[in-house]
Amino acid sequence: MYEDDIESVLLSEEQVQEKVRELAGQISKDYRGREVLLVGVLKGAFILMADLARHLTVPHEFDFMAVSSYGSATQSSGVVRILKDLDRNIQGRDVLLVEDIIDSGLTLSYLLKNLRSRRPATIEVCSLLCKPEQLKADIEVKYKGFDIPSVFVVGYGLDYAERYRNLPFVATLRPEVYRTG
Ligand code: IMP
Ligand code: MG
Repeated sequence: MYEDDIESVLLSEEQVQEKVRELAGQISKDYRGREVLLVGVLKGAFILMADLARHLTVPHEFDFMAVSSYGSATQSSGVVRILKDLDRNIQGRDVLLVEDIIDSGLTLSYLLKNLRSRRPATIEVCSLLCKPEQLKADIEVKYKGFDIPSVFVVGYGLDYAERYRNLPFVATLRPEVYRTG
């Protein structure tokens, strides 16, 4: 469907799936005997959430948040508006925040501050991708899939103009795609 738009594949479906299994293994080990509340940041995290959860061997519940960050189309400002809040109280819960990608980290930094104020027992972060060169906020990502260079990528939940989220791999787009819209 989108084959002609792809410039190069950064992470293959196999690489991504192997990493997700590995992360789920680590999480299952660390949370043994406890119940995890997976909090997904919409929309990008929904694919990782689904794959990750199916490999977890500890009990877990799902909740989601949707945020919009003020700023230009490609740069977040760290000022975040909550479009959809959690359905449930997280006080005393073991929360695992699931993200698709951490770019500047400003969105995540805001979310962590906000969620910490609700007094969860613990809160950790799981992100498939991280762009370390871009990182502006001081955050610890305990469960990280891959560090990638500062390029715009799509697939595995990540979009450009709401497209390409369904791709099972992580890829860059041909420049023409940005020009024609
Ligand atoms: P941050 O606040 O700069 O860390 O922004 C993170 C958010 O920006 C992610 O949740 C994505 O929605 C978006 N984003 C950052 N980099 C990319 C990318 O390479 N492809 C698609 N979306 C991205
Ligand atoms: Mg996006």
